[in-house]
Amino acid sequence: MKKLGLLSVLLVATSVNAETFEVNIPELQNEAKGVIKELATTLGGELKKAKKSGGAPAAITVCNTKAGPLTALVNSKSDWEISRTSLKLRNPENAPDQWEKAALEEFDKKANIGANLEKLAFSQVVVDEEGRKVFRMMKAIPVAEQCLACHGSKIKPELAEHLQKLYPEDKATGFSQGELRGAFSLKKYL
Ligand code: HEC
Repeated sequence: MKKLGLLSVLLVATSVNAETFEVNIPELQNEAKGVIKELATTLGGELKKAKKSGGAPAAITVCNTKAGPLTALVNSKSDWEISRTSLKLRNPENAPDQWEKAALEEFDKKANIGANLEKLAFSQVVVDEEGRKVFRMMKAIPVAEQCLACHGSKIKPELAEHLQKLYPEDKATGFSQGELRGAFSLKKYL
């Protein structure tokens, strides 16, 4: 994954003035970048290994059974929570919450007018329902060439069948390279 580049910090009415809490936003954004990089590298590595040993169906199993635990692994090593979400879901369990959905819709709009997805990110300090302050960040995930085998429009029949069985409500197919696939979503309680 490329460097994050410029982060856009949009402030909306519900946001908290970060200075009030002496929150170092650039530092949090940098930490978040590191966590995303670690997860993206681990996931990519696991996919490659599985493909070599058992072809794409094995890779699906990795994605299906390991993405969760891997995410947990990254999480357990830090006080960050990280997940992946999308407006076009494969696994309904990855559905976005309200905050994530709004950010994804904003990314989608920007993608439609030609924004560079590699640089699309959004962060905000918010107060959750229990009154806890939380730093939240989303970073867009563009579709790369190696994603098309499982998210593109020409998925091999045996793979498509396998996916259909695991994810009967799969909406994450038919993507082209460079399109917005979804986003990494991170949280850190302050
Ligand atoms: C071998 C098949 C395979 C490949 C290759 C693959 N994925 Fe997936 N992807 C899956 C499966 C299976 C899931 C559902 C995982 C789960 O159950 O949480 C998934 C889920 C996701 C999600 C979580 C949101 C959702 O729809 O549930 C994102 C985001 C995602 N993939 C992006 C990518 C990107 C980006 C690439 C390329 C870098 C990629 N995938 C490559 C099979 C694949």
